[in-house]
Amino acid sequence: KKRVLTGINTTGTLHIGNYVGAIRPAIQDSRDPNVESFFFLADLHALIKCQDPARIERSRMQIAATWLAAGLDPERVTLYRQSDIPEIPLLCWMFDCVMSKGLLNRAHAYKAAVDAATAAGKDPDADVSMGLFSYPVLMAADILMFNAQEVPVGHDQLQHLEMARDAAQRFNNLYATPEHPFFVLPQATGGSSIEVLPGLDGRKMSKSYNNVIPLFEGGRAALDAAIARIVTDSRAPGEPKDPDSTSLTVIFDAFAAPEEREAFRAELRSGLGWGEAKKRLADQIDREIGPMRARYEELMAHPAQVEEILQEGARKARLIATPFMDKLRHAVGLRSFT
Ligand code: TYM
Repeated sequence: KKRVLTGINTTGTLHIGNYVGAIRPAIQDSRDPNVESFFFLADLHALIKCQDPARIERSRMQIAATWLAAGLDPERVTLYRQSDIPEIPLLCWMFDCVMSKGLLNRAHAYKAAVDAATAAGKDPDADVSMGLFSYPVLMAADILMFNAQEVPVGHDQLQHLEMARDAAQRFNNLYATPEHPFFVLPQATGGSSIEVLPGLDGRKMSKSYNNVIPLFEGGRAALDAAIARIVTDSRAPGEPKDPDSTSLTVIFDAFAAPEEREAFRAELRSGLGWGEAKKRLADQIDREIGPMRARYEELMAHPAQVEEILQEGARKARLIATPFMDKLRHAVGLRSFT
């Protein structure tokens, strides 16, 4: 069976970019009987950016409930918290010891943090944490712990996948024979034709840009309020619009069949007002996610039920991680004397 794995950082609530880029394609993949899926809450990664314990706990619950509400079947899929699998940080350390610092110096997120600190007049060496520097290494451990062949992620994560391949190769070269490698080289996949979903202002939809459309939190009202803020030009109803002048149409595309996309663009070209177009977009998104939101709210009211699913997921994940880690410990020379 093909192994597919993906994770989401538990640093806040989710937006439709997370849904389109990762959750929806991952759940689609998981329905294939030839696929074994591993989805997890990246709560160790969350500690890098968030030192607010209550927020991390709330976010874990929200993201677990989102996966389940979006159609994940816990009987078929292994859903777990990263922090429940102690083998993962141990594997991260093993990779820390074989990967080169130079490669990690080139990580986009690290470089951006260094640039931001410098621009703010701070010393980047004092300001950037070891956790942030090692972010891609922990991610490599997440993926390679379960030897995932495919990792559905948005395009912002492609460099991290390259680094995971590097970790796998270095470890294999040092400790394995070519005939019996420990790790397969993972591939990034995205089920969606949209590589990066743009936000309200046309830049990548991201919490750090404050340009997101929330997935479930705040209900339909929050969806409408966010969509009202999508940037468009000032052409009045009746005037022809350029469908490519705004992220509105790209977001519409992510929730529409090809013929609906064309029809919507044609209407804009022949004068549909932006206000009406926004209402159509909200209805289009809500048609898909409205029923999920009802399930989400139901799950949020029953945290014990979600907790039970996560505990069972951790148990299943460790049935794989524990014996594999024994092999890896043996390979690097950490075996017991007995
Ligand atoms: P995170 O939480 O930042 O993002 C979760 C997923 O959502 C995707 N995404 C988007 N996709 C399309 N358009 C957007 N505007 C957009 N914004 C976010 C991200 O690409 C991601 O797939 N490093 C990961 C978490 C992680 C992980 C892993 C993923 C930790 N370990 C192992 C895969 C495998 C991240 O940034 O998540």
